[in-house]
Amino acid sequence: MKRAGIINVTGYVGAELARLLWRHPEVRLTSVTGRSGAGKPLAEVFPHLAPLGLTIGEELNSVDVVFSALPHGASAQAVAPLIEAGLPVIDHSADFRLRDVDDYESWYGRKHPAPHLLPDAVYGMPELHRDEVAKAQVVAVPGCYPSSAIPALAPALRAGLIEHDVIIDSKSGVSGAGRTLDLKRHYSEANESVLAYGLEGHFHLAEITQELSRLCEAPAPRITFIPHLVPMTRGILSTCYAPLAPGRVSPGNRARSEVREIYSEFYRNEPFIRVVDSPPQTKQAWGSNYCLLYPTVDLRAGRLVVVSCLDNLVKGAAGQAIQDMNLMLGFPETAGLEDLAVYP
Ligand SMILES: NC(=O)c1ccc[n+]([C@@H]2O[C@H](COP(=O)([O-])OP(=O)(O)OC[C@H]3O[C@@H](n4cnc5c(N)ncnc54)[C@H](OP(=O)(O)O)[C@@H]3O)[C@@H](O)[C@H]2O)c1
Repeated sequence: MKRAGIINVTGYVGAELARLLWRHPEVRLTSVTGRSGAGKPLAEVFPHLAPLGLTIGEELNSVDVVFSALPHGASAQAVAPLIEAGLPVIDHSADFRLRDVDDYESWYGRKHPAPHLLPDAVYGMPELHRDEVAKAQVVAVPGCYPSSAIPALAPALRAGLIEHDVIIDSKSGVSGAGRTLDLKRHYSEANESVLAYGLEGHFHLAEITQELSRLCEAPAPRITFIPHLVPMTRGILSTCYAPLAPGRVSPGNRARSEVREIYSEFYRNEPFIRVVDSPPQTKQAWGSNYCLLYPTVDLRAGRLVVVSCLDNLVKGAAGQAIQDMNLMLGFPETAGLEDLAVYP
């Protein structure tokens, strides 16, 4: 068994990593850290994790693989010495997602804490970068919104099916913003209410643009991405729209089956992407590592429409991180991730 450690187990992503690793056949979680929780039994902070029998430390003990679930900035600082010491690191923050340090510094409004480590980091979306992830020492787990939006648009851009003018309309449950308290996420503010935010440019647009641009010829796609907060705990549903490129599909209803065929073919061998037969809902992904995609065509407007949904804490974070770890350590890609969604 390999020994895994989690830096910052006390957030939602850290806790979800611990839950998923509990059932991993090849890896044992042996060390967890947290700032405010240091010195406490993990069971005191998260009673549902009591069977792990761990105590939260200030530093990791000796481990074979490290997950960081710290916020951006703090994460690169914490993992840099571990990377330099040769440990495989899987990072949930945005610190290693963007190839271009200037992009990072302008989007995140801070100096990158370890720019020398960026060239070797790999964007951890196995469906696009499987071979690179398998060889990487540092993997950046994609953001939760990008984890739903990029798979929704990748096949269409790769096939030249759409014009490079895309709208991504995403809805997220409140756990997407983490456990740290703020007024927007108080029950009485968020319940029975829907909020659009980030209209002037949400951070995740940077990585969505980076990854989608790599899939097609220039010009880079123009992307409008608008996230919404909806009153549920977990889940992201993204509806993505783009005009069909002229002459790429047959007229009429056949367009729909041709588009489905392109998506089914693109994801034919993917264990965690399912092209489904009817528009999916977030509950169908709850607790699972699946991303569900429903591509169709708005025949009146000549537009591709793709509905994508996943659990932000699993395929949008901890599950995808474990999928990356499986590739990095040479385990079956699906190890520890076979559970179906919890329903209803
Ligand atoms: N939530 C999601 O759906 C999601 C999805 C994908 C990626 N991510 C990314 O995953 C990381 C963790 O997200 P999360 O949702 O788990 O966050 P979270 O629930 O808000 O947890 C963050 C915790 O980190 C601790 N913390 C904050 N600043 C710190 C610092 N400078 N040093 C040490 N500890 C600090 C705080 O704990 P104490 O104050 O108690 O110490 C806080 O509870 C973030 O980088 C986030 O962007 C989140």
